[in-house]
Amino acid sequence: MTLLVKGGRVINPAVQQDEICDILIENGKIKEMGTNLNAPGAEVFNAAGLVVAPGFIDMHVHLRQPGQSAKETIGTGTRAAAAGGICRVATMPNTKPVIDKAIIVEGMKYKAEHEGVVKVDIVGAISKELKGQELAAMGAMANAGVVAFSDDGRYVEDCDFMRKAMEYASMFHKVIIDHCEEQSLVAGGTMHEGTVSNELGLKGRPAVAEDIAVARDILLAEATNTPVHIAHISTKNAVDMVRRAKAKGLHVTAEATPQHMILTDEALREYDARFKVNPPLRSDDHRQAVVDGLIDGTIDAIVTDHAPHEWEEKDEEFNLAPSGFVGLETSVGAVLTYLYHTGMVDLTTLIRAYTAAPAKILGIDAGVLAPGREADLTIIDLDKEWAVDSTTFYSKGKSTPFDDMIFKGKAAATIVDGIVVMKDGEVLR
Ligand code: DOR
Repeated sequence: MTLLVKGGRVINPAVQQDEICDILIENGKIKEMGTNLNAPGAEVFNAAGLVVAPGFIDMHVHLRQPGQSAKETIGTGTRAAAAGGICRVATMPNTKPVIDKAIIVEGMKYKAEHEGVVKVDIVGAISKELKGQELAAMGAMANAGVVAFSDDGRYVEDCDFMRKAMEYASMFHKVIIDHCEEQSLVAGGTMHEGTVSNELGLKGRPAVAEDIAVARDILLAEATNTPVHIAHISTKNAVDMVRRAKAKGLHVTAEATPQHMILTDEALREYDARFKVNPPLRSDDHRQAVVDGLIDGTIDAIVTDHAPHEWEEKDEEFNLAPSGFVGLETSVGAVLTYLYHTGMVDLTTLIRAYTAAPAKILGIDAGVLAPGREADLTIIDLDKEWAVDSTTFYSKGKSTPFDDMIFKGKAAATIVDGIVVMKDGEVLR
């Protein structure tokens, strides 16, 4: 099977490439890149006027398998990814049962291979059942192929336990993806603590809860010489601490979500659980600090934290509704609309945060376009205007803070191993 992607503007941050270039793909791999390529008999994808990037990676999603297939499955979640221009996702272990043993990793790999429309990497738990007490079977899961360890959704509270987990993870050359919210400070809180939470009479989750957690884990990363990746960073101090850790040469990286870079706690004034998420949407000074962190390279990756829940659950009274919402089908549009078209962040920085940066953090062979590499491509129409309509989502989760918004910029096609799995919004598998 031969595919020729012709005439697109190739933005390939890993090798500082930004030029019009054809890409010839044969048997799932990139065969050649250059101008005026010809391949008689090849299927041609006309990318003139479009941006062609390495396949986008979302290193923080919840596919909810095993055990919560009413919320999402590998099939529906990876279709949502394809629809949004995402070629590869890393799925979190806060499932039922928790992904804390090799046998569950093996099962997930089998399912991903058979039901996944895009590539799926698996993140194993740090602790058994995410209880923060006994180490999960990290060695066996590393052998089974997990890309990282995380108790995402929960903070690992015990300092000595986290230190041991880091030491153990580093033996297997795996990064810890760290959910940073100090538990005693956020207990019972449902939104960012500040003026808005005071006015609404809701208990807040203060920024200092994240700051303390990030501070501890940067110190532990230094003490154990282990790579630590700060998940969904959302506070000024956390961004600043990561900036300083990097300047010191520590193995500390960070990710941010579109929601924390675009929305603020003002959105919660109607008590609408669509905006309820952990860590919470914060005040504008924090939001701006996160964007600044992305611009200056403190923040490496853009992720969605795609967290599907059943409609009935999210439709509950604000205090009772679960935290989190879907993001795979809105990530690229939201980021292009609010960060690129506003002139805030350049395209190369954004594309790096979806490609080369997450690939490097996870240690996976992806995120760059080059002959011989797997032909994963995200093709983008920068100027396409569209309205978000959650009823059309491929994801089972329909709750999104971006519903009804008009976006400018959308993935036009998703190519995985040389196969066009999405074109013009339609998933073809
Ligand atoms: O709001 C959230 N929901 N934050 C997390 O970290 C986990 C996620 C979920 O799994 O629903």
